[in-house]
Amino acid sequence: MRPLRVVIKVKVKIFGAGSIGNHLAHGCRNKGWEVVMVDLDARALQRTKEQIYPGRYGAWDLTIRLAQPNEVAKDPFDLVIVGTPPDTHLKVALQQLRDCPPRVMLIEKPLCTPTLEGADELVTQSRAAGTFVATGYNHTLTANTIHVENLLAQGVVGKVCTIAASFREYWGGIFSAHPWLAGPQDSYLGYSKRGGGASGEHSHAVNIWQHFARLTGAGRVREVSAMLDMVETGQVCYDRICQLHVRTEHGLVGLIVQDVVTEPAQKLARIQGEGGHVEWLVNPMSGQDAVRWQATGGSAGEMLFPKQRPDDFKGELDHIEGCVRGATDDSPVALERGLESMMVIAAAHVSHRLRRSVTIDYSKGWNLEAIQPTGEAA
Ligand SMILES: NC(=O)c1ccc[n+]([C@@H]2O[C@H](COP(=O)([O-])OP(=O)(O)OC[C@H]3O[C@@H](n4cnc5c(N)ncnc54)[C@H](O)[C@@H]3O)[C@@H](O)[C@H]2O)c1
Repeated sequence: MRPLRVVIKVKVKIFGAGSIGNHLAHGCRNKGWEVVMVDLDARALQRTKEQIYPGRYGAWDLTIRLAQPNEVAKDPFDLVIVGTPPDTHLKVALQQLRDCPPRVMLIEKPLCTPTLEGADELVTQSRAAGTFVATGYNHTLTANTIHVENLLAQGVVGKVCTIAASFREYWGGIFSAHPWLAGPQDSYLGYSKRGGGASGEHSHAVNIWQHFARLTGAGRVREVSAMLDMVETGQVCYDRICQLHVRTEHGLVGLIVQDVVTEPAQKLARIQGEGGHVEWLVNPMSGQDAVRWQATGGSAGEMLFPKQRPDDFKGELDHIEGCVRGATDDSPVALERGLESMMVIAAAHVSHRLRRSVTIDYSKGWNLEAIQPTGEAA
């Protein structure tokens, strides 16, 4: 007899009918879920129906309901996705927990602003409500990442010496996808303190570095030394380059680079061990991710993972489906993982401002008090 598979029709509300809101609405509909998209801006709802969704996926999906947030504020949902600008994430999330806590809430990256305002409260309120909160670091759940995890588990690189990760991509593509924005000044992107700039927008590099460091037993990032290249005009204030030297709790030293200027893009992580190395690559060639590895004096290989843009979110949504069913143990996108990335981003800004290295003390919570100049931690 074939095993019985329980099919849950997940009810989803998505805050933000912008770029990510459309990607995730499409991904949820591919799973047969019931989708409501809400946006404060009526023009964004109209754009979704008339331009973004049909432009990307061929036709508008008539089953998707479009609404103002207050029309469905107290309606129950299994999953709530917060796909609004970073400086609104925690306000929206906390209000949702007060109005009607869902089983699972997926908050886009970066989780909040580098002030970390509201982060401690989110942890407390989500625990009290029994809501599992995840963050939108979808690259931890793509096929190339799973392949690297398997290679590491097989011991291909031996003892890890260092990890380097880069997300370097000129952000012209973002503005092509948002033709209603004239430039970074028109959104959070032009303001690091609102969660924009390279430090916030390309924080996938911080997160994947932490993901691989954690898997290799190196622990969390404890020390950060940053150099940012700031663009400051009367209109914008953002880091266009964010370079970080980091050291973990167990002493692993590595490098993280994020920028919004490199063209063509370079998105990769390299894990160097005493016995070989593994490279994780996003889009090294159009339409595919890749993994390359070489054991010193031994086996070498390359695996290609053909994909289209919707595949970037498939692993994430499959994982979230499991979370809705209650399988949340050791989730790579759990709230704590997103908060750990936020601590590094916040530490980067403090380090840049002080022009010295800073230490993160996780016992002090998810706030700026936990980030102090190295050697001066209370
Ligand atoms: N994981 C990824 O690969 C990925 C890709 C794109 C964007 N993102 C993230 O998604 C978030 C949104 O980015 P985007 O490019 O979709 O932005 P966007 O500007 O295209 O869309 C955001 C939408 O949110 C709406 N909004 C603002 N406040 C709201 C509120 N309180 N309630 C309801 N709607 C509200 C705005 O009107 C806007 O339409 C950012 O944090 C970004 O970093 C992640």
